[in-house]
Amino acid sequence: MVNLKGKDIISLRELKKDEIEYLLSRASDFEKILQKDGYTNILEGKILATLFYEPSTRTRLSFTTAMHRLGGSVIGFSEPETTSTVKGENLTDTIRTIENYADTIAIRHSEEGSAKLAAQYSSKPVINCGDGSHAHPTQTLLDLYTIRKEKKKIDGLKIALVGDLKYGRTAHTLSYALALFGADIIFVSPESLSMPKDVTSELKNKFDIEIKEYTKMESIIRDIDVLYVTRIQKERFPDPEEYEKVKGAYKVDLKVLENAKKELIVLHPLPRVYEVDPELDNTKFAKYFQQTYYGVPVRMAILASVLGK
Ligand code: NCD
Repeated sequence: MVNLKGKDIISLRELKKDEIEYLLSRASDFEKILQKDGYTNILEGKILATLFYEPSTRTRLSFTTAMHRLGGSVIGFSEPETTSTVKGENLTDTIRTIENYADTIAIRHSEEGSAKLAAQYSSKPVINCGDGSHAHPTQTLLDLYTIRKEKKKIDGLKIALVGDLKYGRTAHTLSYALALFGADIIFVSPESLSMPKDVTSELKNKFDIEIKEYTKMESIIRDIDVLYVTRIQKERFPDPEEYEKVKGAYKVDLKVLENAKKELIVLHPLPRVYEVDPELDNTKFAKYFQQTYYGVPVRMAILASVLGK
């Protein structure tokens, strides 16, 4: 029997496969509730704190929506410059304060390891909504959910991760999860933005995965079932000139997909900048807005589970 009450969600490594399966299956139950009534009150009286030290549209607002649709309420901030952080308060003191106000804490921060640090100081479950380039576990859960919904399985699918694999936290966490679920993973990035060695070593050592790396999408487009496109992470480049060199490295448009399988799906955690042409939006390849829809039931499953409901 899976029980995630009180569990911190920091990287997905803390979750066993059956616990991930449990969250995906609960998400499916919540999706049905959303379609039928749009609401349940199982988290009535509970409070989520969203502490967003970095910009966000989807992650913060879908967590907020998820909490409201579970009957709970939300406090928090998305403009840290209005908090005591500007007076010099450190993260751990903020966490030791907020744990007195809320039942669970969702945090996004530019420092790798910040969510883990927050969890060490919080007696309430901490949910990592992105810590620097490191991890983004709730995005990965909704990515897995989307792939399952759209392709009916994950095991054996050929899935290409394209774009900024160096700084992109969604790609780091997703590649771990895809390996765990038995997908055939292909990495496509400029050489300077390839998947970090700590990620590829883990895939090799823990899952015995052969690392396949390419620099051109054209080399792999015929064979794949899922194209997971990511944004070049401008804000993480130490040197803006380096960003200028690679910012237009990939653009997925109808021409690129000419030789793709008819059933190929294109995913993207969003926001997109150059890398997915809007001409794709109304084609059956495009599933990235559907992906944002699945974010709500998946985050409902996470909140309900860590709060023991
Ligand atoms: C991503 C992020 O913040 O890592 N966005 C998201 O949560 N959907 C992707 C990105 O910013 O490129």
